[in-house]
Amino acid sequence: MARDILVTSALPYANGSIHLGHLVEYIQTDVWARFQNLFGNRCVYVCADDAHGTPIMLKARAAGIDAEDLIADYGAEHQKDFSDFLIGFDNYYTTHSKENRELSETIFNRLSNAGHITRRTISQAFDEKYGMFLPDRFIQGECPKCGAAEQYGDACEVCGATYQPTELTNPVSVLSGATPVERDSEHYFFQLGQFEDFLHEWTHGEQLQEAITRKLDEWFKAGLKDWDISRDAPYFGFKIPGTLDKYFYVWLDAPIGYMAAFANLCTRRDDLNFDDFWSRNSEAELYHFIGKDIVYFHALFWPAMLEGAGYRTPTGIHAHGFLTVNGEKMSKSRGTFIRARTWLDHLPAEYLRYYFAAKLSGRVEDIDLNLDDFVARINADLIGKYINIASRTANFISKRFNGRLSSELDRPELFQEVAAAREEIAGRFEQRRFAQGIRTIMALADKTNAYVAERAPWQIAREEGRETELQQICTTALNVFAQLTTYLKPILPDTAARAEAFLNVNPLDWSQLDRPLLDHDINQFKPLLKRVDDKTVERMMAASSEDLATKSSEPADNTSESDGTSAEDNTIEIDDFTKIDLRVARVISAEPVEGADRLLKLILDVGPLGQRQVFAGIKSAYDPTELQDRLVSLVANLAPRKMRFGVSQGMVLAAGNRPYLLAPDDGAQPGDPIK
Ligand code: MSP
Ligand code: ZN
Repeated sequence: MARDILVTSALPYANGSIHLGHLVEYIQTDVWARFQNLFGNRCVYVCADDAHGTPIMLKARAAGIDAEDLIADYGAEHQKDFSDFLIGFDNYYTTHSKENRELSETIFNRLSNAGHITRRTISQAFDEKYGMFLPDRFIQGECPKCGAAEQYGDACEVCGATYQPTELTNPVSVLSGATPVERDSEHYFFQLGQFEDFLHEWTHGEQLQEAITRKLDEWFKAGLKDWDISRDAPYFGFKIPGTLDKYFYVWLDAPIGYMAAFANLCTRRDDLNFDDFWSRNSEAELYHFIGKDIVYFHALFWPAMLEGAGYRTPTGIHAHGFLTVNGEKMSKSRGTFIRARTWLDHLPAEYLRYYFAAKLSGRVEDIDLNLDDFVARINADLIGKYINIASRTANFISKRFNGRLSSELDRPELFQEVAAAREEIAGRFEQRRFAQGIRTIMALADKTNAYVAERAPWQIAREEGRETELQQICTTALNVFAQLTTYLKPILPDTAARAEAFLNVNPLDWSQLDRPLLDHDINQFKPLLKRVDDKTVERMMAASSEDLATKSSEPADNTSESDGTSAEDNTIEIDDFTKIDLRVARVISAEPVEGADRLLKLILDVGPLGQRQVFAGIKSAYDPTELQDRLVSLVANLAPRKMRFGVSQGMVLAAGNRPYLLAPDDGAQPGDPIK
């Protein structure tokens, strides 16, 4: 019986680009969903941008735009990247939606009415200059255990200690450089401990991979703590019903975003009904694909929230490991941080889909993108094995038989054998053991190539009177090619579509695997895939490094230089210029930066845009004390950059080598646009 299945991938944050690490997840979810549909089930795949939270709010502020505009821009970028990677979402939505607000309120109210929410006043780090409570990651100081400098408020990257931000020595706010103070505020908590029995049972059922259950057991042992689900204004998110200035923590409404994306899809799909998938007695299956870093949210908070609010719980959580590139963690400084778009600029999306699938085992292990192995694998498997079957036989059919396949197969046993593998391959795909499924598929391709080599149609073609034989051999090979295309279709949907056009067939699926194409006209064969070469991969890697160099060059030197290049070589359009948000700013404070010879740390008042911290390379020319209260010109929408000393949120303009600050006359107001 056909199953009804809803699958999701974790919602990417709407403040950064999609990279290859993300794609490990979106590609495997997509392959799984496509497989389910080809197999004959009904599988719906939804996702969305995760659009709320402090980092998004601050990034928008730093860019001088509304958070709504920022998330709209990233939403569009993400959708383009995903679509070019052939990720076939049924709906890609955003958590900043009407549906999500309503569902979040409903779930909160139900949890609240059932006594699962409690309120408590807690004391937290507050930045008085910035007027805001500081998340752990926005506080830096010296590690209380080992004394390492510039550690974040939650954990030390040097000695691995975890602690409260209040335990840091000499803490400073990353936003303003000010010393945080303690301030009280009332928070809302979800009482996870009330679900201990339920969760214990749930996490020991079919829903989870073993490694995940073991990890959760450690957390159970440590005890389930109340979960803080509220944040104070200013915050970009949904206001908590019945409060003036409290917001849902982003992780409260993020998973509800799965429901909201589905609810939104239901508004335009008559065949889908929200309750059929989400009510407590739903018979549909629900799976969440996630990375190993967000298990706590999906295997504890989320099922407890659903249970407490009277909805069904997930059928399974499919967790995967992290991507490494050439054996190393993806890292900007090592040049192994590859954005989705950079890959697409150089290499076909399907090659990454195939490579990831060939590596995915269904376990929570990290997977490595080794680029030499990648080139070898694509050329050996896709070109050397799969496509080869068609490229060695298709032309005989076109040229000698007017494009017509024979009425019988030369070796029906081979065709039967490939058809008989469908249970096994489907089983592997179902369990997300794509690597094993692919091994089986490639073994069948090997067998078929050996068959073609043994029968050597190119020799038979030279002999008189063996026409029927020639046609039947090529027909056998092309029929297996169609079967292998069906098996690979969840991974290579575009290639499969081109193969279908060549074979002149309706979209292939699992149901036709044992029905050979006989007495059937096919079209002229054109090479369906190209070999990859090392050079292209090297260019892609080089582009990744350049990408990062232009994005993260340190703003230490912000003197503008006239290099004498002629004007017409680098003219820009007025549109280019107006993209730069130039503003008048007033220096609130200026101070030297320890360990940086040329830098001064400036705190700037930018009027309605608030305050900014900027590191400027002007120390050689200015005494910090004389800068206070001066007006300067600020590039206000430069993406914030994390430097060794903190985040720099803009750039101050200066001229010449001395350098001379470019300062508006007295009378200009902080925040005034410079035109
Ligand atoms: N916004 C949250 C998820 C909310 S779901 C209700 C989030 N976003 S994320 O953009 O950081 O990550 C999205 C998904 O990509 C997560 O499942 C994460 O584990 C996965 N990956 C991010 N980087 C990854 C690698 N380097 N490797 C593999 N997966 C990775 O978390
Ligand atoms: Zn430490």
